[in-house]
Amino acid sequence: MSKFVPAELSSCAEKLIRGRHATRAFRAEPVSDDTMRRIFSLAGAAPSNSNAQPWQVEVVSGAARQRLADALQRAHAERRTSVDFPYAEGMYAPVHQSRRAAFGGELYGALDIGPDDHAARAAYDAQSLRFYDAPHAAFLFVHGDARARLAADVGAYMQTLLLAMTAYGVDSCPQGLLSFYADTVRTELGVTGGKLLVGISFGYGDEAAPVNRVRAERAPLESTTAFHD
Ligand SMILES: Cc1cc2nc3c(=O)[nH]c(=O)nc-3n(C[C@H](O)[C@H](O)[C@H](O)COP(=O)(O)O)c2cc1C
Repeated sequence: MSKFVPAELSSCAEKLIRGRHATRAFRAEPVSDDTMRRIFSLAGAAPSNSNAQPWQVEVVSGAARQRLADALQRAHAERRTSVDFPYAEGMYAPVHQSRRAAFGGELYGALDIGPDDHAARAAYDAQSLRFYDAPHAAFLFVHGDARARLAADVGAYMQTLLLAMTAYGVDSCPQGLLSFYADTVRTELGVTGGKLLVGISFGYGDEAAPVNRVRAERAPLESTTAFHD
């Protein structure tokens, strides 16, 4: 393989990183085994503290995916949630909370769901537990003491995986919602160790779906990043 000169590499990186968007409606077409292996091998190149690579990845397709989707529907209907990483609305600072609200407005607007239509939002949550109809889902477990440092390594793996998917033309949606059903995922997949950080639905996006045209704005550089001389 020829070596990239920096200008080509930065231009590819701009396209790759800015070309990735969360996809929330998928076609049924599966990703081939070969592409799947290339993507997950590439994701394994992610950095981690002391190269510990404290992640365990469980990928579901076909009948296993269907069984898990059904189990998640049952868990949702019976309100059997279980999280490995605590969650609270109050964990966000006001500035971050306002970004979340702006994004929620965009997303639910594209779905034609009004701000106070709690029933429609709940129905959408239930539907999204079917992986937005994606043919595959990956579950990222953190091994070890599973506190912030190791979870950060698995976060680096997650982004590397999302970009590897983009590079191979595969669309994805990281879904924190799936981590609210950690016990269900563990039981269905026979997983005994680790803590569930996030699930990622993936496949090929439905380009006709309005929800896939949502583009989340980013905060200006100056508001998140300071350069010190
Ligand atoms: C850890 C994590 C959890 C997320 N959880 C969800 C989720 O449960 N449902 C969902 O539709 N999107 C989820 N997202 C996608 C974000 O909403 C999305 O990344 C963000 O709005 C930025 O948009 P973009 O990915 O299209 O650039 C999650 C993203 C991350 C990184």
